[in-house]
Amino acid sequence: MPHGLILGIESSCDETAAAVVERGARTLSSVVASQIATHARYGGVVPELASREHLRAIVPVVRAALAEAGVSLADLDAIAVTSGPGLAGALLVGITYAKALAFAQCLPLIAVNHLEGHIHAVLLQQRQTASEQTVYEALALVVSGGHTHLYLATPTLGTWQYRLIGRTLDDAAGEAFDKVAKLLGLGYPGGPWIDSLARFGDPHAVPFAFSRIKTKLHLAGKAPRTKAAQTAPIADLDPHFLFSFSGIKTAVLRYVELHQMRDEAAARVSRMLASARPPQTKEEALALCPQPTLDLIASFQHAVVGDLMKKTFAAAESLGATRILVTGGVAANNELRTRFTAEAAHRSLTVAFPTLALSTDNAAMIAAAAWPRFKAAAFAPPDLTATPSLALGT
Ligand code: KG4
Ligand code: ZN
Repeated sequence: MPHGLILGIESSCDETAAAVVERGARTLSSVVASQIATHARYGGVVPELASREHLRAIVPVVRAALAEAGVSLADLDAIAVTSGPGLAGALLVGITYAKALAFAQCLPLIAVNHLEGHIHAVLLQQRQTASEQTVYEALALVVSGGHTHLYLATPTLGTWQYRLIGRTLDDAAGEAFDKVAKLLGLGYPGGPWIDSLARFGDPHAVPFAFSRIKTKLHLAGKAPRTKAAQTAPIADLDPHFLFSFSGIKTAVLRYVELHQMRDEAAARVSRMLASARPPQTKEEALALCPQPTLDLIASFQHAVVGDLMKKTFAAAESLGATRILVTGGVAANNELRTRFTAEAAHRSLTVAFPTLALSTDNAAMIAAAAWPRFKAAAFAPPDLTATPSLALGT
Protein backbone atom coordinates (compact mmCIF):
# COMPACT_ATOMS: atom_id res chain seq x y z
CA MET A 1 0.00 0.00 0.00
CA PRO A 2 1.47 3.38 -0.95
CA HIS A 3 2.02 6.00 1.73
CA GLY A 4 -0.18 8.35 -0.25
CA LEU A 5 2.50 11.01 -0.66
CA ILE A 6 1.41 13.59 -3.23
CA LEU A 7 3.50 16.50 -4.46
CA GLY A 8 1.19 19.43 -5.29
CA ILE A 9 2.18 22.23 -7.66
CA GLU A 10 0.25 25.52 -7.96
CA SER A 11 1.03 28.37 -10.38
CA SER A 12 -2.37 29.70 -11.48
CA CYS A 13 -1.87 33.35 -10.55
CA ASP A 14 0.89 35.18 -8.66
CA GLU A 15 2.12 32.55 -6.24
CA THR A 16 4.49 29.71 -7.15
CA ALA A 17 3.77 26.96 -4.63
CA ALA A 18 4.68 23.35 -3.96
CA ALA A 19 3.72 21.06 -1.08
CA VAL A 20 3.91 17.45 0.00
CA VAL A 21 0.75 16.09 1.63
CA GLU A 22 0.21 12.56 2.95
CA ARG A 23 -3.16 10.92 2.22
CA GLY A 24 -4.85 14.28 1.74
CA ALA A 25 -4.62 14.92 5.46
CA ARG A 26 -1.10 15.56 6.75
CA THR A 27 0.93 18.45 5.37
CA LEU A 28 4.62 17.55 5.36
CA SER A 29 5.64 20.80 3.68
CA SER A 30 4.04 23.83 2.03
CA VAL A 31 6.27 26.34 0.27
CA VAL A 32 4.89 29.52 -1.30
CA ALA A 33 6.97 32.02 -3.30
CA SER A 34 4.92 35.18 -3.51
CA GLN A 35 5.27 37.64 -6.39
CA ILE A 36 3.70 40.53 -4.46
CA ALA A 37 6.85 42.65 -4.73
CA THR A 38 6.86 42.25 -8.53
CA HIS A 39 3.23 43.25 -9.07
CA ALA A 40 2.80 45.79 -6.24
CA ARG A 41 3.98 48.78 -8.25
CA TYR A 42 1.36 48.03 -10.94
CA GLY A 43 -1.45 47.60 -8.40
CA GLY A 44 -2.43 44.23 -9.90
CA VAL A 45 -1.07 41.06 -11.45
CA VAL A 46 0.74 41.56 -14.77
CA PRO A 47 0.32 38.19 -16.58
CA GLU A 48 3.63 38.27 -18.50
CA LEU A 49 5.59 39.09 -15.36
CA ALA A 50 3.76 36.33 -13.48
CA SER A 51 4.81 33.69 -16.05
CA ARG A 52 8.42 34.87 -15.91
CA GLU A 53 8.49 34.75 -12.12
CA HIS A 54 6.96 31.25 -12.09
CA LEU A 55 9.71 30.07 -14.47
CA ARG A 56 12.32 31.43 -12.09
CA ALA A 57 10.75 30.02 -8.95
CA ILE A 58 9.33 26.63 -9.90
CA VAL A 59 12.51 24.51 -9.56
CA PRO A 60 13.72 25.96 -6.22
CA VAL A 61 10.19 25.92 -4.78
CA VAL A 62 9.64 22.22 -5.63
CA ARG A 63 13.10 21.33 -4.30
CA ALA A 64 12.39 23.24 -1.07
CA ALA A 65 9.05 21.46 -0.64
CA LEU A 66 10.70 18.03 -1.02
CA ALA A 67 13.57 18.98 1.31
CA GLU A 68 11.25 20.40 3.97
CA ALA A 69 9.14 17.24 3.85
CA GLY A 70 12.27 15.10 4.09
CA VAL A 71 11.32 13.06 1.03
CA SER A 72 12.82 12.45 -2.40
CA LEU A 73 11.06 12.17 -5.76
CA ALA A 74 11.32 8.39 -5.46
CA ASP A 75 9.14 8.45 -2.31
CA LEU A 76 6.21 10.11 -4.06
CA ASP A 77 3.06 8.30 -5.19
CA ALA A 78 1.73 11.00 -7.52
CA ILE A 79 2.14 14.57 -8.73
CA ALA A 80 -0.82 16.96 -8.70
CA VAL A 81 -1.02 20.25 -10.55
CA THR A 82 -3.53 23.07 -10.97
CA SER A 83 -4.89 22.92 -14.54
CA GLY A 84 -7.27 25.92 -14.25
CA PRO A 85 -8.88 28.36 -13.81
CA GLY A 86 -6.15 31.00 -13.91
CA LEU A 87 -3.73 32.83 -16.18
CA ALA A 88 -2.84 30.69 -19.22
CA GLY A 89 0.90 31.42 -19.20
CA ALA A 90 1.16 31.03 -15.43
CA LEU A 91 -0.75 27.72 -15.42
CA LEU A 92 1.41 26.35 -18.24
CA VAL A 93 4.61 26.74 -16.21
CA GLY A 94 3.29 24.49 -13.43
CA ILE A 95 1.63 22.03 -15.82
CA THR A 96 4.68 21.63 -18.05
CA TYR A 97 6.98 21.14 -15.09
CA ALA A 98 4.62 18.67 -13.39
CA LYS A 99 4.19 16.69 -16.62
CA ALA A 100 7.94 16.43 -17.16
CA LEU A 101 8.53 15.38 -13.55
CA ALA A 102 5.75 12.78 -13.65
CA PHE A 103 7.04 11.37 -16.96
CA ALA A 104 10.65 11.20 -15.75
CA GLN A 105 9.67 9.52 -12.46
CA CYS A 106 6.96 7.28 -13.97
CA LEU A 107 4.42 8.77 -11.56
CA PRO A 108 0.72 9.37 -12.19
CA LEU A 109 -0.25 12.99 -12.83
CA ILE A 110 -3.45 14.40 -11.32
CA ALA A 111 -5.10 17.59 -12.64
CA VAL A 112 -6.80 19.72 -9.98
CA ASN A 113 -9.28 22.56 -10.39
CA HIS A 114 -7.99 25.55 -8.39
CA LEU A 115 -11.46 26.18 -6.89
CA GLU A 116 -11.69 22.57 -5.74
CA GLY A 117 -8.26 23.12 -4.21
CA HIS A 118 -9.58 26.03 -2.12
CA ILE A 119 -12.41 23.81 -0.83
CA HIS A 120 -9.89 21.11 0.12
CA ALA A 121 -7.86 23.66 2.10
CA VAL A 122 -10.64 23.23 4.68
CA LEU A 123 -11.25 19.50 4.09
CA LEU A 124 -7.51 18.89 4.58
CA GLN A 125 -7.80 20.09 8.16
CA GLN A 126 -11.02 18.16 8.75
CA ARG A 127 -9.38 14.95 7.49
CA GLN A 128 -6.60 15.50 10.03
CA THR A 129 -9.02 15.12 12.88
CA ALA A 130 -11.87 13.03 11.46
CA SER A 131 -11.86 9.78 9.57
CA GLU A 132 -12.59 10.06 5.86
CA GLN A 133 -16.01 8.48 6.37
CA THR A 134 -17.11 11.30 8.67
CA VAL A 135 -16.60 14.09 6.16
CA TYR A 136 -20.01 15.50 5.25
CA GLU A 137 -21.74 17.52 2.60
CA ALA A 138 -21.16 21.27 2.96
CA LEU A 139 -22.04 24.56 1.33
CA ALA A 140 -18.73 26.12 0.26
CA LEU A 141 -18.19 29.83 -0.35
CA VAL A 142 -14.99 30.28 -2.38
CA VAL A 143 -14.14 33.94 -2.05
CA SER A 144 -10.84 35.17 -3.44
CA GLY A 145 -9.23 37.65 -5.80
CA GLY A 146 -10.51 35.78 -8.85
CA HIS A 147 -13.66 34.07 -7.58
CA THR A 148 -16.82 34.41 -5.57
CA HIS A 149 -18.65 31.12 -5.99
CA LEU A 150 -21.05 29.09 -3.86
CA TYR A 151 -20.96 25.31 -4.29
CA LEU A 152 -22.70 22.41 -2.64
CA ALA A 153 -19.83 19.96 -2.07
CA THR A 154 -20.96 16.36 -1.60
CA PRO A 155 -18.78 13.31 -0.86
CA THR A 156 -19.78 10.55 -3.28
CA LEU A 157 -18.16 7.12 -3.33
CA GLY A 158 -14.85 8.40 -2.03
CA THR A 159 -14.63 11.43 -4.33
CA TRP A 160 -16.37 14.79 -4.24
CA GLN A 161 -19.07 16.29 -6.44
CA TYR A 162 -19.83 19.98 -6.71
CA ARG A 163 -23.02 21.76 -7.63
CA LEU A 164 -22.81 25.44 -8.48
CA ILE A 165 -25.33 27.36 -6.37
CA GLY A 166 -24.30 30.97 -6.98
CA ARG A 167 -21.53 33.22 -8.20
CA THR A 168 -20.56 36.76 -9.03
CA LEU A 169 -21.85 38.39 -12.18
CA ASP A 170 -18.87 40.72 -12.41
CA ASP A 171 -15.98 41.37 -9.98
CA ALA A 172 -14.87 38.89 -7.34
CA ALA A 173 -15.06 40.11 -3.72
CA GLY A 174 -11.26 40.10 -3.39
CA GLU A 175 -11.03 42.11 -6.59
CA ALA A 176 -13.31 44.74 -5.00
CA PHE A 177 -11.02 44.86 -1.92
CA ASP A 178 -8.00 45.28 -4.22
CA LYS A 179 -9.61 47.96 -6.41
CA VAL A 180 -10.94 49.99 -3.47
CA ALA A 181 -7.53 49.80 -1.76
CA LYS A 182 -5.89 50.98 -4.99
CA LEU A 183 -8.21 53.94 -5.39
CA LEU A 184 -7.57 54.91 -1.75
CA GLY A 185 -3.81 54.77 -2.35
CA LEU A 186 -3.30 51.74 -0.11
CA GLY A 187 -0.91 48.80 -0.56
CA TYR A 188 -1.26 45.71 -2.75
CA PRO A 189 -2.94 43.30 -2.37
CA GLY A 190 -5.62 45.47 -0.82
CA GLY A 191 -7.47 42.89 1.34
CA PRO A 192 -5.00 42.81 4.26
CA TRP A 193 -4.76 46.65 4.29
CA ILE A 194 -8.52 47.13 4.35
CA ASP A 195 -8.86 44.38 6.96
CA SER A 196 -6.35 46.13 9.28
CA LEU A 197 -7.63 49.67 8.77
CA ALA A 198 -11.34 48.77 9.04
CA ARG A 199 -10.88 47.93 12.73
CA PHE A 200 -10.40 51.64 13.44
CA GLY A 201 -13.38 52.99 11.50
CA ASP A 202 -17.16 53.18 12.02
CA PRO A 203 -18.75 50.43 9.89
CA HIS A 204 -22.09 52.29 9.86
CA ALA A 205 -20.72 55.69 8.77
CA VAL A 206 -21.46 55.21 5.05
CA PRO A 207 -24.64 53.26 4.26
CA PHE A 208 -23.59 51.21 1.22
CA ALA A 209 -26.39 49.11 -0.18
CA PHE A 210 -26.47 46.11 -2.48
CA SER A 211 -29.44 46.19 -4.79
CA ARG A 212 -31.34 43.01 -5.47
CA ILE A 213 -30.15 41.15 -8.54
CA LYS A 214 -32.99 40.33 -10.85
CA THR A 215 -32.82 37.52 -13.35
CA LYS A 216 -32.97 39.15 -16.70
CA LEU A 217 -33.68 36.66 -19.40
CA HIS A 218 -31.11 38.21 -21.70
CA LEU A 219 -28.37 37.70 -19.09
CA ALA A 220 -28.83 33.96 -19.19
CA GLY A 221 -27.68 33.64 -22.74
CA LYS A 222 -25.05 36.36 -22.60
CA ALA A 223 -21.31 35.90 -22.21
CA PRO A 224 -20.21 36.83 -18.67
CA ARG A 225 -18.82 40.32 -18.35
CA THR A 226 -15.53 39.65 -16.62
CA LYS A 227 -12.91 36.95 -16.15
CA ALA A 228 -14.21 36.20 -12.67
CA ALA A 229 -17.60 35.40 -14.11
CA GLN A 230 -16.33 33.20 -16.93
CA THR A 231 -15.83 30.06 -14.86
CA ALA A 232 -19.49 29.14 -14.65
CA PRO A 233 -22.77 29.71 -16.47
CA ILE A 234 -25.40 31.80 -14.74
CA ALA A 235 -28.46 30.35 -16.41
CA ASP A 236 -30.70 28.47 -13.97
CA LEU A 237 -29.08 29.91 -10.84
CA ASP A 238 -31.34 31.40 -8.18
CA PRO A 239 -30.85 35.21 -8.37
CA HIS A 240 -30.84 35.36 -4.55
CA PHE A 241 -27.46 33.62 -4.63
CA LEU A 242 -25.82 35.79 -7.28
CA PHE A 243 -23.23 38.39 -6.27
CA SER A 244 -22.16 41.67 -7.86
CA PHE A 245 -19.28 43.75 -6.52
CA SER A 246 -18.62 46.25 -9.29
CA GLY A 247 -21.36 48.60 -8.01
CA ILE A 248 -19.88 49.08 -4.55
CA LYS A 249 -16.48 49.80 -6.07
CA THR A 250 -18.06 52.60 -8.13
CA ALA A 251 -19.97 53.85 -5.07
CA VAL A 252 -16.67 54.14 -3.15
CA LEU A 253 -15.14 56.00 -6.10
CA ARG A 254 -18.08 58.48 -6.16
CA TYR A 255 -17.82 58.98 -2.39
CA VAL A 256 -14.09 59.69 -2.68
CA GLU A 257 -14.70 62.27 -5.41
CA LEU A 258 -17.65 63.90 -3.63
CA HIS A 259 -15.74 64.23 -0.36
CA GLN A 260 -12.49 65.48 -1.93
CA MET A 261 -10.48 62.46 -0.77
CA ARG A 262 -8.59 62.13 -4.08
CA ASP A 263 -5.52 64.21 -3.18
CA GLU A 264 -5.22 62.53 0.18
CA ALA A 265 -5.27 59.10 -1.56
CA ALA A 266 -2.69 60.20 -4.13
CA ALA A 267 -0.39 61.41 -1.34
CA ARG A 268 -0.57 57.98 0.30
CA VAL A 269 0.72 56.12 -2.77
CA SER A 270 4.34 57.20 -2.32
CA ARG A 271 4.23 56.31 1.39
CA MET A 272 2.94 52.85 0.51
CA LEU A 273 6.10 51.89 -1.34
CA ALA A 274 8.09 52.59 1.82
CA SER A 275 5.64 50.96 4.21
CA ALA A 276 5.68 47.16 3.96
CA ARG A 277 2.94 46.21 6.41
CA PRO A 278 -0.58 47.40 7.22
CA PRO A 279 -1.03 49.51 10.42
CA GLN A 280 -1.51 47.60 13.66
CA THR A 281 -2.53 50.38 16.08
CA LYS A 282 -5.01 53.26 15.98
CA GLU A 283 -2.09 55.72 15.98
CA GLU A 284 -0.51 54.03 12.97
CA ALA A 285 -3.89 53.92 11.20
CA LEU A 286 -4.55 57.62 11.84
CA ALA A 287 -1.05 58.50 10.70
CA LEU A 288 -1.96 56.92 7.36
CA CYS A 289 -5.65 57.82 6.98
CA PRO A 290 -7.85 60.52 8.53
CA GLN A 291 -10.89 59.27 10.47
CA PRO A 292 -13.42 59.81 7.61
CA THR A 293 -11.29 57.56 5.37
CA LEU A 294 -11.11 54.90 8.09
CA ASP A 295 -14.91 55.14 8.38
CA LEU A 296 -15.27 54.71 4.61
CA ILE A 297 -12.99 51.65 4.67
CA ALA A 298 -14.87 50.09 7.61
CA SER A 299 -18.24 50.75 5.91
CA PHE A 300 -17.07 49.19 2.64
CA GLN A 301 -15.81 46.03 4.35
CA HIS A 302 -18.93 45.78 6.51
CA ALA A 303 -21.16 45.98 3.43
CA VAL A 304 -19.19 43.36 1.45
CA VAL A 305 -19.06 40.91 4.37
CA GLY A 306 -22.78 41.52 5.02
CA ASP A 307 -23.66 40.68 1.42
CA LEU A 308 -21.50 37.53 1.42
CA MET A 309 -23.20 36.44 4.65
CA LYS A 310 -26.73 37.21 3.56
CA LYS A 311 -26.51 35.14 0.39
CA THR A 312 -24.49 32.28 1.86
CA PHE A 313 -26.86 31.77 4.79
CA ALA A 314 -29.89 32.14 2.52
CA ALA A 315 -28.45 29.40 0.27
CA ALA A 316 -27.72 27.18 3.30
CA GLU A 317 -31.31 27.59 4.46
CA SER A 318 -32.76 26.92 1.04
CA LEU A 319 -30.64 23.78 0.56
CA GLY A 320 -30.99 22.57 4.14
CA ALA A 321 -27.20 22.60 4.48
CA THR A 322 -25.99 22.55 8.09
CA ARG A 323 -22.27 22.89 7.33
CA ILE A 324 -20.63 25.88 5.71
CA LEU A 325 -17.03 26.26 4.50
CA VAL A 326 -15.60 29.67 3.67
CA THR A 327 -12.32 29.59 1.80
CA GLY A 328 -10.03 31.62 -0.53
CA GLY A 329 -7.97 34.74 0.19
CA VAL A 330 -10.90 36.83 1.49
CA ALA A 331 -11.61 34.09 4.08
CA ALA A 332 -8.55 35.48 5.89
CA ASN A 333 -10.60 38.60 6.71
CA ASN A 334 -11.14 39.15 10.44
CA GLU A 335 -14.60 40.69 10.25
CA LEU A 336 -15.74 37.95 7.87
CA ARG A 337 -14.57 35.21 10.25
CA THR A 338 -16.15 36.85 13.29
CA ARG A 339 -19.52 37.58 11.69
CA PHE A 340 -19.85 34.22 9.88
CA THR A 341 -18.98 32.41 13.12
CA ALA A 342 -21.56 34.39 15.14
CA GLU A 343 -24.32 33.97 12.55
CA ALA A 344 -23.64 30.23 12.21
CA ALA A 345 -23.84 29.81 16.00
CA HIS A 346 -27.07 31.81 16.03
CA ARG A 347 -28.57 29.47 13.41
CA SER A 348 -27.08 26.29 14.95
CA LEU A 349 -24.96 25.65 11.85
CA THR A 350 -21.24 24.92 11.69
CA VAL A 351 -18.82 27.08 9.76
CA ALA A 352 -15.17 26.20 9.02
CA PHE A 353 -12.31 28.23 7.57
CA PRO A 354 -8.81 27.21 6.46
CA THR A 355 -5.85 28.31 8.56
CA LEU A 356 -4.69 31.79 7.56
CA ALA A 357 -1.76 30.32 5.61
CA LEU A 358 -4.06 28.01 3.65
CA SER A 359 -6.67 30.73 2.93
CA THR A 360 -4.61 32.34 0.17
CA ASP A 361 -3.12 30.37 -2.73
CA ASN A 362 -0.92 27.41 -1.78
CA ALA A 363 -0.13 23.91 -3.06
CA ALA A 364 -1.10 21.89 0.03
CA MET A 365 -4.73 22.39 -1.01
CA ILE A 366 -3.91 21.08 -4.51
CA ALA A 367 -2.22 17.94 -3.14
CA ALA A 368 -5.15 17.45 -0.73
CA ALA A 369 -7.76 17.76 -3.49
CA ALA A 370 -5.79 15.21 -5.53
CA TRP A 371 -6.04 12.50 -2.84
CA PRO A 372 -9.61 11.31 -3.61
CA ARG A 373 -8.70 11.33 -7.32
CA PHE A 374 -5.59 9.30 -6.63
CA LYS A 375 -7.65 6.67 -4.83
CA ALA A 376 -10.11 6.61 -7.74
CA ALA A 377 -7.19 6.38 -10.23
CA ALA A 378 -8.56 9.48 -11.97
CA PHE A 379 -5.34 10.51 -13.66
CA ALA A 380 -4.69 13.30 -16.16
CA PRO A 381 -4.18 12.50 -19.85
CA PRO A 382 -0.63 12.88 -21.21
CA ASP A 383 -1.76 15.88 -23.29
CA LEU A 384 -3.03 17.82 -20.25
CA THR A 385 -2.98 21.55 -20.91
CA ALA A 386 -4.04 24.78 -19.21
CA THR A 387 -7.76 25.64 -19.12
CA PRO A 388 -7.91 29.32 -18.06
CA SER A 389 -11.73 29.30 -17.67
CA LEU A 390 -12.06 25.81 -16.20
CA ALA A 391 -15.43 25.45 -14.45
CA LEU A 392 -16.06 23.37 -11.34
CA GLY A 393 -18.96 20.96 -11.00
CA THR A 394 -22.37 21.04 -12.60
O1 KG4 B 1 -6.99 32.97 -2.90
P1 KG4 B 1 -6.08 34.07 -3.31
O2 KG4 B 1 -4.68 34.06 -2.77
O3 KG4 B 1 -5.93 34.15 -4.87
C1 KG4 B 1 -6.96 33.92 -5.76
O4 KG4 B 1 -7.27 32.73 -6.05
O5 KG4 B 1 -7.53 34.94 -6.22
O6 KG4 B 1 -6.83 35.44 -2.91
C2 KG4 B 1 -6.23 36.68 -3.03
C3 KG4 B 1 -7.27 37.73 -2.66
C4 KG4 B 1 -6.82 39.16 -2.94
O7 KG4 B 1 -7.86 39.85 -3.60
C5 KG4 B 1 -6.59 39.72 -1.54
O8 KG4 B 1 -6.79 41.13 -1.45
C6 KG4 B 1 -7.62 38.97 -0.74
O9 KG4 B 1 -7.58 37.66 -1.27
N1 KG4 B 1 -7.29 38.95 0.69
C7 KG4 B 1 -8.08 39.52 1.64
C8 KG4 B 1 -7.41 39.34 2.87
N2 KG4 B 1 -6.23 38.67 2.63
C9 KG4 B 1 -6.18 38.44 1.28
N3 KG4 B 1 -9.27 40.14 1.55
C10 KG4 B 1 -9.81 40.61 2.69
N4 KG4 B 1 -9.22 40.50 3.90
C11 KG4 B 1 -8.03 39.86 4.04
N5 KG4 B 1 -7.46 39.75 5.24
ZN1 ZN C 1 -6.98 31.09 -5.28
